[in-house]
Amino acid sequence: MTKICCIGAGYVGGPTMAMIALKAPDITVSVVDVNAARIAAWNSDDLPIYEPGLAEIVKECRGRNLLFTTEVKDAIREADFIFVSVNTPTKTYGIGAGRAADLRFVESVARSIAEVAESPKIIIEKSTMPVKTAETIKDILAASGRRLAHQVLSNPEFLAEGTAIADLLEPDRVLIGGEHTPGGDQAVAALVDIYARWVPRERIITTSLWSAELSKLVANAFLAQRISSINTISALCEATGADVDEVANAIGKDSRIGPKFLKSSVGFGGSCFQKDILNLVYLCEYYGLSEVAAYWNGVVHMNNWQKQRFAARIVRTLFNTVAGKKIAVLGFAFKKDTNDTRESPAICVVRDLLAERARVSVYDPQVPESQIRSEVRGPDGENELLTVVSNAYEAADGAHALVLVTEWDAFKHLDFERIYATMPKPAFIFDGRNILPLDELRQIGFRAEGIGKPAYSAPLLPHPSLKTVYSPAALTV
Ligand code: UDX
Ligand code: ADP
Repeated sequence: MTKICCIGAGYVGGPTMAMIALKAPDITVSVVDVNAARIAAWNSDDLPIYEPGLAEIVKECRGRNLLFTTEVKDAIREADFIFVSVNTPTKTYGIGAGRAADLRFVESVARSIAEVAESPKIIIEKSTMPVKTAETIKDILAASGRRLAHQVLSNPEFLAEGTAIADLLEPDRVLIGGEHTPGGDQAVAALVDIYARWVPRERIITTSLWSAELSKLVANAFLAQRISSINTISALCEATGADVDEVANAIGKDSRIGPKFLKSSVGFGGSCFQKDILNLVYLCEYYGLSEVAAYWNGVVHMNNWQKQRFAARIVRTLFNTVAGKKIAVLGFAFKKDTNDTRESPAICVVRDLLAERARVSVYDPQVPESQIRSEVRGPDGENELLTVVSNAYEAADGAHALVLVTEWDAFKHLDFERIYATMPKPAFIFDGRNILPLDELRQIGFRAEGIGKPAYSAPLLPHPSLKTVYSPAALTV
């Protein structure tokens, strides 16, 4: 019987292994993690991650051919395939701090495999790694002196959180990179066979190791770049009175552009986009490609600007001061249908509002209070102006403004008449996801603003430095 071990029971490892266990009942899949609390949660009814459809699959497979355990070494020893799904956060210290990936978890896994393995393994990079990480893993394995013919493959995961199960069931493609040697080809073919149980063969792409590693970074960079591009246009729409959703719809109908990832927002979040672009930037700088690095860095720069711009607009619209005012923040996860808050735009928005001394009341349907507090906590510790509540009405009660940061479906169906009645007037709504009907809200009496939408108040005037060039007088001449 084939045995798989997956090291790292996180947002990637957990759902991916659950799908393999579901589709390949003849394979035993052990998911291991050093975090005992996380493993205990995987073995309970309260899974550590919220992902629609995941609990049902885990329930079906757990105890049959899907195991969650902290016995890392045993699982490595017995496995034929070892998936590496540990975290690779951006380095916060030393060389490459703020850009390069921190590979200490990956290195530690490679050392464990080198120490424990008694037979040749197929080791699969599942986490996003900087290009050429496979070489480091191979180097560490070779140095163990055991002379086992391990193979290292790159099989990046493209699932998006919130739709992980659907993405795993019907992926656009599965990418497998390996060395072009007889052993490498054999290992690639063995992994292809696992996916081919439910993914059509023509959707399984095989490439060199380095191409696979780089493709993952580039896919995320291109997706994020589309969001930053439309977000630049949202600022121009707000200034000119155009509507960014109308613009996105018009350009997205061009089949060369396509409609996806053109939803303007308060900014992108999640554990991947920023980290992977910074990684790409670091790679370009390393190879002396400073223009390429600057180009991609612009995508992250624009995203940071968009988040700050949103918070600044709230302050400006609330008569330039939010000190002492209650502000309700709806949603804290980085997108709907997940409890993940890594790099969530809500973190920046809440911090900026707290810095302006607003009393911020946060509600998210899936994110626990402790997680919200730990994301917002600054170097000075807890901020007493922050409260976390258990429903949207409580958050809105007595608030000067409602700020929607995550596009949870439930927020579309709130009783806004009821909410309006509990808020001081004028009552403001800022929709950071453009999911609310601004016209209807304005009819209730709200001063409602969207991202890249014609403003409730008059459009902003051109920047003073441009006035001389574009003044009406100049235009009529
Ligand atoms: C992303 C990639 O989509 C996935 O392929 C990769 O494996 C991991 O990174 P994820 O971060 O889970 O997935 O979610 P995604 O749906 O890509 O959204 C990322 C962020 O962009 C979210 O904050 C989302 O709200 C935002 N977004 C997305 C927009 O603001 N506008 C859009 O049009 C799309
Ligand atoms: P991702 O979103 O990429 O899945 P997560 O942070 O959710 O990332 O999950 C990564 C998991 O990997 C964490 O639960 C962490 O405890 C685990 N991990 C990190 N290093 C090791 C290791 N050496 N052995 C086992 N598990 C590890």
